[in-house]
Amino acid sequence: MSHKQAARIAPSILSADFARLGDEVKNVVDAGADWIHFDVMDNHYVPNLTFGAMICSALRPHTDAPIDVHLMVESPDSLVEAFAKAGANLISFHPDATPHVDRTLSLIRDQGCKAGLVFNPAMPLEWMDHVMDKLDLVLLMSVNPGYGGQKFIPHSLEKLQTARQKIDRWVENGGQPISLEIDGGVNIQNIASIRAAGADAFVAGSAIFNQPDYKAVIDAMRTEIAKADAQSAA
Ligand code: DX5
Ligand code: ZN
Repeated sequence: MSHKQAARIAPSILSADFARLGDEVKNVVDAGADWIHFDVMDNHYVPNLTFGAMICSALRPHTDAPIDVHLMVESPDSLVEAFAKAGANLISFHPDATPHVDRTLSLIRDQGCKAGLVFNPAMPLEWMDHVMDKLDLVLLMSVNPGYGGQKFIPHSLEKLQTARQKIDRWVENGGQPISLEIDGGVNIQNIASIRAAGADAFVAGSAIFNQPDYKAVIDAMRTEIAKADAQSAA
């Protein structure tokens, strides 16, 4: 039995207008976004540089929506407290960016945030096996991290199914719920197959922010997700 949660749309502000970030966040939440996905890049772990905890803190008063911080940085431990103080609700990191994955997960939860582990396309899911009890979120990258606007890697669907099975088994054995999030190349055309493969949270940057009507895109995504759910219930 699948323990998929209600679908959550998490627009990535990486593709928003950086000169008007407060308005962009407000507008996209008004358009129906569930979470704000906040991509932190340090030009070491990934070849790009974005924003840090100060920008997160500046955006916090602009919305009540959970802020989903995706740390694409080396040594994430040193940033956890700053992001928690800045109002982050979820903080996820890449396990190959820290020597002590278990410790980093604890650190995030000790700061009162939900903790997530991120898997690059070529990273095996076995990394989650020994820390299941410390996970609130598993984030699968369906592109190589660093840039918005890339193409969805098809193998991600198979990987999603495997992650779904691991999470479902965990929940069936009495474990806490764990969200399964997908990040990269998500759009109206492929979101139904991504839902069917097991995702319950959907990051979308360029698919939303490159269109004039954010609500139209988010509504269309929800319609596609509902179609996938109806099909799997049939
Ligand atoms: C990529 C980021 C993604 C990115 C998604 O490194 O983690 O969150 O913004 O952008 P799209 O939806 O355009 O692929
Ligand atoms: Zn991201």
